[in-house]
Amino acid sequence: MAAANPMKLEGKVAIITGGARGIGEAAARLFSAQGAIVVIADVQDALGRSVAASLPRPATFVHCDVRDEAQVATAVAHAVEAHGRLDVLFSNAGVIGPLLSGFLDMDLTALDDVLAVNVRGAAAAIKHAGREMARAGRGGSIVCTASVAAIQGGMAPAGYTAAKHGLLGLAKAAAAELGEAGVRVNCVSPFGVATRLSCAEGLLGPEELEKFTSEAAYLKGAVLNVRDVAEAALFLASDDSAFITGHNLVVDGGVTQINPATSKFTEIVANRQGSN
Ligand SMILES: NC(=O)c1ccc[n+]([C@@H]2O[C@H](COP(=O)([O-])OP(=O)(O)OC[C@H]3O[C@@H](n4cnc5c(N)ncnc54)[C@H](O)[C@@H]3O)[C@@H](O)[C@H]2O)c1
Repeated sequence: MAAANPMKLEGKVAIITGGARGIGEAAARLFSAQGAIVVIADVQDALGRSVAASLPRPATFVHCDVRDEAQVATAVAHAVEAHGRLDVLFSNAGVIGPLLSGFLDMDLTALDDVLAVNVRGAAAAIKHAGREMARAGRGGSIVCTASVAAIQGGMAPAGYTAAKHGLLGLAKAAAAELGEAGVRVNCVSPFGVATRLSCAEGLLGPEELEKFTSEAAYLKGAVLNVRDVAEAALFLASDDSAFITGHNLVVDGGVTQINPATSKFTEIVANRQGSN
């Protein structure tokens, strides 16, 4: 009889920032189902607590605004005190900032806030989780949620695009340094997936967003959802990706990998050959 598949995060402790809803919540459920003890670190206390209480494995919630380095340090200390170790950080908390203002009307205070959460907050999380992983000497895996907006312009507002490009740089720099301690640092970069962030008031509704993403993707027959992003994060968090670091795993149905202008080349050649 074939052995049952072992759980991918059995015995591991994982902090998930922004784990109270959306992609972070989906990751909390998946990581927990795969054997991890999850620590949800978020600013939404009631929601975060209720998600933690509903997970299949022991889990805790810790209030953590990633803009405040002291709160991030406390979250890491909480994971170690409450659960004995830290193996995984899913640095996922993020905000999109003002959606409808153009570059020439950019609100620079709002830009500061987008950078404070998406870049500075991730830096604090990588710093404190990385320190603990290096101290404990067991290695570890850090996964950050970047975005297709980390790769291309025109996908999202300028501040968010700048922040996600910055996050990618941060993760690569951390991978270069933390590799010495056996700590891997990678990113997942989703295309539009229906959450509160992407379906904010006045924007597309969840079904409209899914339709938009599906139509824009080269891959047909699949609809991107939070579980797909959580699965990519699980791969990077687990030992399945043991030799992968400094990588950005896009979950985008091909949109950032295929250039619509130049991909017409093969079409033109095929048409020409057909007419000869
Ligand atoms: N939804 C998408 O289409 C999409 C695409 C690409 C990347 N992303 C990224 O995915 C990540 C998760 O976003 P989501 O779509 O699940 O959105 P979401 O708004 O549903 O979830 C974001 C979570 O982050 C938390 N958060 C916000 N600011 C925080 C702070 N200062 N400290 C701690 N927690 C904070 C929120 O409370 C919330 O629980 C973000 O980094 C986002 O940029 C989302």
